[in-house]
Amino acid sequence: MSNILCIGAGYVGGPTMTAIARYCPEHKITVVDINEERIRRWNSEDLPIYEPGLDEWVRETRGKNLFFSTSIHQSIAEADIIFVSVNTPTKMFGQGAGRAADLQYWEKTARDILTHARQPEVVVVEKSTLPVRTAQAMARILDSGDSKTHFEVVSNPEFLAEGTAIQDLENPDRVLIGGRESEEGSRAAETVAKLYAHWVPEERILLTNVWSSELAKLVANAMLAQRISSINSISALCEKTEADIGQIAKAIGMDSRIGPKFLQTSIGFGGSCFRKDILHLAYLCEYYGLPEVSDYWESVVRINEWQTERFFQNILKQQFNTLAGKTVAVLGFAFKADTGDTRDSPAIPLCQKLLEEKARVRIHDPKALENAREDLRGMQGDVEFVEDAYQACKGAHSIALVTQWQEYRELDFQRIHDEMVKPAFMFDGRNHLDPQSLHQIGFNVFPLGKKPLLHL
Ligand code: NAD
Ligand code: UGA
Repeated sequence: MSNILCIGAGYVGGPTMTAIARYCPEHKITVVDINEERIRRWNSEDLPIYEPGLDEWVRETRGKNLFFSTSIHQSIAEADIIFVSVNTPTKMFGQGAGRAADLQYWEKTARDILTHARQPEVVVVEKSTLPVRTAQAMARILDSGDSKTHFEVVSNPEFLAEGTAIQDLENPDRVLIGGRESEEGSRAAETVAKLYAHWVPEERILLTNVWSSELAKLVANAMLAQRISSINSISALCEKTEADIGQIAKAIGMDSRIGPKFLQTSIGFGGSCFRKDILHLAYLCEYYGLPEVSDYWESVVRINEWQTERFFQNILKQQFNTLAGKTVAVLGFAFKADTGDTRDSPAIPLCQKLLEEKARVRIHDPKALENAREDLRGMQGDVEFVEDAYQACKGAHSIALVTQWQEYRELDFQRIHDEMVKPAFMFDGRNHLDPQSLHQIGFNVFPLGKKPLLHL
């Protein structure tokens, strides 16, 4: 039996450790966090994150071999394997502000581990997404004291996506483990690999050197985001030429070299990682004297911001360039469906722009209203958070669909249209609804990358 610890009980730490607890019943898993409220909720029926299927897994394991705690120092002292899954946001001050990774939380954990570890050998696993060569800095900190513990740092980035975390953890495309190219490094990587081997087929557990593992994580996110910016850039061209973005995505996606995934045009990608990881990657390229490479990746973020701006500009233009006093119903605030997470959601800049135009903004989301309230706290203007989608749309001049919740497809749009101000506008930021049937009901419909359907 090993004592496995995870520092950071967030969107990654919580679900990944629940998976390890479920599949490795012989090990004791403890998840710690400085955030007491988060730990209290992990120990309650009201988990701090919404993720389909997670409740069931937590119920199966919590109190048996899975524990959530705020006793960080004691847990470090007992641990043989320590996953570090703290947040690594974009640095907002000093050198690299707005681009580089802010490693203060990560460094704090390294120092905590150095001070409190007591086992003779401890494997420290980087679960957070980190700039390439961070493991070296971690190792330097861990080797700097007079600790009797031998530390070995392994990189094991996480590839789960929110909303599908349980499926992704249960059936990962690959598990990536990067170890030092030495006997001790290989042994530590094997220790981590053995955990996953409880449920992941051997051929999907990929062992690499540490730097490849760290960098592969950033590159995977950058490549996924780059596909979205590519298709979104083409959605703009479609709107000028009457080509249809759905047909284009299908046609190119059938090329087996391109593949169909991540070609869904949108108001822009959101989430806590794509933007931050690309900016970290771009910053790293610049740091290593590669400004052209840096600029290439930054353009993915620029197109993303432009796509959200373009969506907003269209709402403004179609409403005769004035939104003051008009009601806009925003359907969905989460950065994608099946999560309550709103970090970096395109809904945030969209609502900000709408409020700056003095629009009355009515926001609905089935899971994210609590976070939406936080995100818009302090923004001036007339904004309401509405539990019922029909209520949000009542008396609205236009609807902006931001998140592709399944339940939005099931709404009675005839009823919604009846209760809106005419002419009624629908701006579908996900191409989630059927434009023809909305048009037949009487909406002026603006999908992305397709011809609008108008009554005007
Ligand atoms: P999160 O903010 O949800 O969770 C991080 C947690 O770490 C917080 O609860 C915070 O209180 C805690 N923490 C910070 N400093 C601490 C300390 N010194 N001691 C104890 N706890 C501390 O973040 P997240 O979404 O889980 O992301 C964590 C990492 O995983 C990031 O590097 C992220 O890039 C990466 N990642 C995230 C996802 C995702 O879907 N969210 C997917 C893959 C990788
Ligand atoms: C993403 C990656 O998919 C995960 O592999 C990675 O582990 C994670 O980031 C991370 O490092 O945090 P996530 O952000 O949870 O996961 O969700 P995605 O499904 O990738 O969606 C990201 C954004 O892109 C969402 O706003 C989504 O709506 C948007 N998107 C996605 C599109 O606009 N079009 C698409 O075709 C796909």
